[in-house]
Amino acid sequence: KGTPAKSGAPVCLTIDGMTITVPEGTSVMRAAAEAGISVPKLCATDMLDAYGSCRLCVVEIEGMRGTPASCTTPVREGMVVKTQTEQLGRLRRGVMELYISDHPLDCLTCAANGDCELQDMAGAVGLRDVRYAAGENHFETRAAEGENPRYIAKDGSNPYFSYDPAKCIVCMRCVRACEEVQGTFALTVEGRGFDARISTGTGDFLNSDCVSCGACVQACPTATLQEKTVEEIGTPERAVVTTCAYCGVGCSFEAQ
Ligand code: FES
Repeated sequence: KGTPAKSGAPVCLTIDGMTITVPEGTSVMRAAAEAGISVPKLCATDMLDAYGSCRLCVVEIEGMRGTPASCTTPVREGMVVKTQTEQLGRLRRGVMELYISDHPLDCLTCAANGDCELQDMAGAVGLRDVRYAAGENHFETRAAEGENPRYIAKDGSNPYFSYDPAKCIVCMRCVRACEEVQGTFALTVEGRGFDARISTGTGDFLNSDCVSCGACVQACPTATLQEKTVEEIGTPERAVVTTCAYCGVGCSFEAQ
């Protein structure tokens, strides 16, 4: 896996002035976490291989050009890393602005309100203003204009969860969870740019290879893939970690 520390020869580096030693092969993001430094992120989780798509976790590394993603950059002996600078703050707010510019601004009535990583990260990077067509959403606008409903409609065909493309930030966590956690390969991405969306390739979840394991729902950082019980009665006040007996994989889930 990309982010968790691996066993290997010890590597010593400096992050935000703190000296830390981690095993070779550890990502800069994980090394920072081990030093108690939290780097903003959206596409990385401890459960999945590093992917490097959201560009929120960028850092500055002495001697290295540009601002590499900390989740996909392995540590090197003597590295000097900065995770909080004015430039990084500007870059992260710019990235968040672009995400929010194409996301519904219905947080107060959204089922994920208070439990949404997009919302959390907007706060964490200090986003206060969106310059790019704030309040408009590509899929909603197209739906209002009567475009192909199969392409843009919310999919409630699965009995346990719904899929709302308007809220998708295409971080690929669901696709990767389906592949890496469940080994099902039921999801992919179709389209590019504003048209990019998660797809089962069959039109809806019910008539796809999806086995309803919930790995994609658990991986989703927004309300794009949302349990129907949460939509109906709200976020549970407590969670119990259990092991799914559905198949032989033995995934652990937080159950209501
Ligand atoms: Fe590193 Fe998304 S968390 S690029």
